[in-house]
Amino acid sequence: MSTDTTPDTDTGTSTESKCGASTDTADADASTSKCGASTTETTDASTESKCGASKSTDSSSSSKCGASSSDEEEVGSTVDDFDADPGRLVAVGLGPGQPEGMTQRAQAALGEVDHIVGYTTYIDLIPDDITEGADEIYSTPMCGEVSRTEEAIDRALAGHDVGIVGSGDPNVYALAGLALEILESKGATASMVDFEVVPGVPAAQSCAARLGAPLVNDTVSVSLSDHLTPMPEIESRLHAVAGEGFTIAIYNPWSRKRRENFEKCCEILLNHRDPETPVGIVHGAGREDEATEIVDLGDLEELGETDLIDMTTTILVGTEDTYVWDDRMVTPRGYESKYDY
Ligand SMILES: C[S@@+](CC[C@H](N)C(=O)[O-])C[C@H]1O[C@@H](n2cnc3c(N)ncnc32)[C@H](O)[C@@H]1O
Repeated sequence: MSTDTTPDTDTGTSTESKCGASTDTADADASTSKCGASTTETTDASTESKCGASKSTDSSSSSKCGASSSDEEEVGSTVDDFDADPGRLVAVGLGPGQPEGMTQRAQAALGEVDHIVGYTTYIDLIPDDITEGADEIYSTPMCGEVSRTEEAIDRALAGHDVGIVGSGDPNVYALAGLALEILESKGATASMVDFEVVPGVPAAQSCAARLGAPLVNDTVSVSLSDHLTPMPEIESRLHAVAGEGFTIAIYNPWSRKRRENFEKCCEILLNHRDPETPVGIVHGAGREDEATEIVDLGDLEELGETDLIDMTTTILVGTEDTYVWDDRMVTPRGYESKYDY
């Protein structure tokens, strides 16, 4: 996930989350936002709770924005806390970053919802005419994904049509699964909120497109984030996929806290692959700061300390058949063994 540290750029009325099913006392004067979460009302500001959630004064049931660690996040309200007829919940993949990279279906889905929920970085990727058409935008700069997803669910259970957005595709290291898990834990069902996933172009594919044709054969994705998966498990997965000769898409490759994970990853890859194996690195595909390089695997580790590799970078590691031709990475599909050309 993006390590977004940008301040909230929303310019509308910012108040506490109103739809966490914890309170109906939010008012426009209460501009304190939990961990920087911001609700922007894009229509007339009303000081009433928007969600119609029933009141609960138990603070443990509030929809929290995981202030210090998402490990502490808990799901609060249950389906019984809501009186309204539920609205819809749509998990929408935004693709890599620029509006042209969004599918028409994603744009249409967001055009139909009342509330849009997401990281500030992702909200900023949505075309203005879509965000301006929504009643509310709920954005969180650094908050936990559990509280943000719960916020979206609570708003849907309270009767609103809600889109929860993320980069790429909702099924790739993203919130589609979490949304279903939280719905279940609340005693709700997916059908109750007419839950739908609208796919987006995943980073691996956007990045592959910038590099030529590196993923044309069997590919496996590995995330180096040890936030949810312990590093020994990630290492053993890396050994397995590198040893089996898949093309590998490495997500979440580097952050200051994960420097050692990246170094370990390079070491494992070099255990299984030739140092001259082509590796494609794409930073910020489809974004203003996009940068692309194709290097030898043996030179990958030293690039960890450069701006090229961070948490908006995806790294595509070729197979023993991958080669570089005219600045493009090519992983043969196998046609050449069957056809003459
Ligand atoms: C939590 S994952 C989300 C993946 C996303 N759901 C997808 O389908 O691409 C975040 C990681 O995706 C990759 N990523 C997301 N956007 C990217 C972009 N525009 N360019 C390169 N990599 C990107 C990075 O590896 C980043 O650390």
